Amino acid sequence: MMPQAKTVTIKKGGVMQTKKIFLPESEMPRQWYNVAADMPTPMEPPLHPGTGQPVGPEDLAPIFPMPLIEQEVSQERFIDIPDEVMEKYLIWRPSPLYRAYGLEKFLDTPAKIYFKNEGVSPAGSHKPNTAIAQAYYNKISGTKRIITETGAGQWGSALSYCCALFGLECKVYMVKVSYQQKPYRRMMMETWGGTCVASPSTETEAGRKILKQNPDSPGSLGIAISEAVEMAVQDDEAKYALGSVLNHVMLHQTINGLECQKQMKIAGDYPDIIIGCCGGGSNFAGLSFPYVRDKVNGKDIDIIGVEPTACPTMTRGPFAYDFGDNNQMTPLLPMHTLGHTFVPEGIHAGGLRYHGMAPLISQLILDNLIRPVAIPQLETFEAGITFARTEGFISAPETTHAIAEVIRQAIQAKEEGKEKVILFNWSGHGLVDMAAYDAYLSGKLADHELAQEEIQRALNDIAPLPKPRQYTG
Ligand SMILES: Cc1ncc(COP(=O)(O)O)c(C=O)c1O
Repeated sequence: MMPQAKTVTIKKGGVMQTKKIFLPESEMPRQWYNVAADMPTPMEPPLHPGTGQPVGPEDLAPIFPMPLIEQEVSQERFIDIPDEVMEKYLIWRPSPLYRAYGLEKFLDTPAKIYFKNEGVSPAGSHKPNTAIAQAYYNKISGTKRIITETGAGQWGSALSYCCALFGLECKVYMVKVSYQQKPYRRMMMETWGGTCVASPSTETEAGRKILKQNPDSPGSLGIAISEAVEMAVQDDEAKYALGSVLNHVMLHQTINGLECQKQMKIAGDYPDIIIGCCGGGSNFAGLSFPYVRDKVNGKDIDIIGVEPTACPTMTRGPFAYDFGDNNQMTPLLPMHTLGHTFVPEGIHAGGLRYHGMAPLISQLILDNLIRPVAIPQLETFEAGITFARTEGFISAPETTHAIAEVIRQAIQAKEEGKEKVILFNWSGHGLVDMAAYDAYLSGKLADHELAQEEIQRALNDIAPLPKPRQYTG
C-alpha cells in the first residue's frame, strides 16, 4: 500500500492541483539499486593501466576502501544502505518531487512536467548522495583524509561537507577555470573544513607537467583527477574519491530514482520521458536507472541524457577503453570518450566538462536503453532563465542542459498534441553560479563549435590502447 499523499493542494478551475509530492521519511528506500544486475549486455572489465589485464580488487586498494571496491564490482540487484548513511540522508532526503505548472503554462504544452529537486541538500546538488556514502565507508575503513578533484565545485563542496560529518580531512583539486569563475564554492569547501587548490597546480608532477606545456591551461577534470590520485597514492592515510563515472557512485545516486518511483505513484503518473544532464553521468543515472530496470522489463520510456555540444562525449566520442585521467594513472574504463587529453572550452557548466562517460551509461547507450543528445550553451542558459521566471528556482548551469531538453520535448508534445509525462532531475541550484548568469544576460557568452580535428587529435592518443568488444571508433 502506498501512503496517502500528504500534500498541499490548490484549486484551479475547479480542479485540485498538487505542486509538491513529499515522501514521508518512513518511506525512504533502505537499499540502493544496482543496474548491473539487469543489464542485457554484461559490462567489460576495467583494465590495469600498466598490464592491460582486468584489474582486481587489490589493484584498486591503494586508492579506494574495500567496501567501495566491492560495490564497484557487485552484481547484487539491491544493496543495503547502512544506518549511519540513512541517518545523514535524512538531513535533506527524501527530496521533493515538483510539478512544473508554471513552465507547462508558459510553454502552453499538453505535457505534464515533473522535476525532482536535488538542490535541497546542504551543498545544493545531488552530489552528497554519494559523498555521504563514500565518507562513511572511508571512515569505517580507517582513512584519515580524502583527496579528490572537482569541476564546478559542487562535488568538492559536497565531499568537504560529508567529510566534516564523519570527522575526515578533505583536500580538493578544483579545475582552474571554475576556481576563478566560482570563488564561493571554494569558500563553501573551506567553511566545511576542506582545503581547495586550483588545478593544474605546482604541487604535483601531473600539474607541473601541464603547466610546463601550457602555463595558461584552464584545467580539466582529467588533469585534476591525475593530481588527486597522485597525492592519494603517496599518502598511506589518504584515499581518493570520485564524484561520478564509477559504478559505486551511480549506485549511491539511485536513492533519488527509487524515491521518485514512489512519489510518481503518489502523483498517479508514470513518465514517458526521463531527462538528466550528464557530466560523468551520476545524477542522470540516479534518477533513471530504476526506470531502466522497468524499461528492460518492457516499459516504453524515452530516457535521454543531455551533454554540452562543447564536450560531446556520448554523441561524438567512440565507445573505447580510455584512462579516467589526463596522466594515465587510473584503470582503463570501457566508455564513451573524447580522449583523456581532451580539454574542453571553459564553458560555465564546469561539471559537464569531462572527457569520459560512466561505463554503465555508455553500455546502456550501446544497448539502446538510453539516448544521448547534445545542446549548445546559449540554449541551455535561455532554458535556465525561462525556468527561473516560470518556476522561480535558479538552476545550476549543468542542470539547465536538462531543462533545455525538457523544453524541446514539451514543445514537441504540443506539436504532436500528445499529453506526455516528462520527468527530469533538477540536479542543483545555481545560487553560487550567478557570474555565469551575469555573463549570459550581458551577452558575453557564445556557443563553441567543436571542430572534428580537435576531437580527432585527442582520439589519436587513445589509438594504441586495447579495444572493447563493442568498440565504435
Ligand atoms: C548540479 C550538477 N549537476 C550535474 C553535474 C554533472 O555531474 P554528473 O553527471 O555526475 O551528475 C554536476 C557536476 O558537477 C553538478 O554540479
